[in-house]
Amino acid sequence: MAAKVIDGKAFAAKLREQVAGHVARLKADHGIVPGLAVVLVGEDPASQVYVRSKGKQTVEAGMASFEHKLEDSVSEAELLAVVEKLNADPEVHGILVQLPLPGHINSDLVINAIDPAKDVDGFHISNVGLLGTGQKSMVPCTPLGCLMMLREAHGSLSGMNAVVVGRSNIVGKPMAQLLLGDSCTVTIAHSRTKDLAEVCRGADILVAAVGRPQMIPGDWVKPGATVIDVGINRIDAPERGEGKTRLVGDVDYASCAEVAGAITPVPGGVGPMTIACLLSNTLVATCRANG
Ligand code: GUN
Repeated sequence: MAAKVIDGKAFAAKLREQVAGHVARLKADHGIVPGLAVVLVGEDPASQVYVRSKGKQTVEAGMASFEHKLEDSVSEAELLAVVEKLNADPEVHGILVQLPLPGHINSDLVINAIDPAKDVDGFHISNVGLLGTGQKSMVPCTPLGCLMMLREAHGSLSGMNAVVVGRSNIVGKPMAQLLLGDSCTVTIAHSRTKDLAEVCRGADILVAAVGRPQMIPGDWVKPGATVIDVGINRIDAPERGEGKTRLVGDVDYASCAEVAGAITPVPGGVGPMTIACLLSNTLVATCRANG
């Protein structure tokens, strides 16, 4: 039986609409306009696309968008000075420093210089610790979006076996914490995991966040499982013509969709939810800052 397709695009549109409604009320009732500052260093094309998209959707939600584009050659001290200025700016409620940063800059140092209350990525060590201990924190956007889609698909996740393939700080680790928080039995698997196929076959919920195109085939998926594909990989698509490319996830969609109970597509699954959750986090940061 073919899997139900989880429509992240439609879910994200609904979430953005809800956020825009809250923003409009905040403005009308209290004169407060949530502000999101995005800092982009260098010219990485994928990062530029993300940042443009973030800016556009921030404005569409009725928020103020502040963009800081810095040269690849910017020094760590200069970048830290920008972060400090944004920390002190009362019109800025959320700060996002686009990753990856150039090699000469210590990313941890920069991320941990962000005021934790404005850390809408949830990457600051304080937020990581708060999430890990089940306390109120800013939650990283991509895993938050995945959790929202899983809750919508299942209601309660309690007691389910969840396997997260990938152990990054941005997705894998916080995803595992969130699933644990929802009472799943969680396994974090990665490139060194022994018999990864068998580990994946035990999953009621399989989250793929490895960054390797189409790595997970359908025969690694338990019949009826829910598959969340976080991967966004561009591959050659000669079938579309010379020099053409297309986006694929970390799972082999065609074979996984034959076995899974539900699956997120790429594009149109997790991707749109990430920015919608960023807007939601900015709204949350604004509300917390204003009591
Ligand atoms: N680069 C890729 N994904 C992300 C993200 O969620 N936040 C930031 N800051 N950089 C990224």
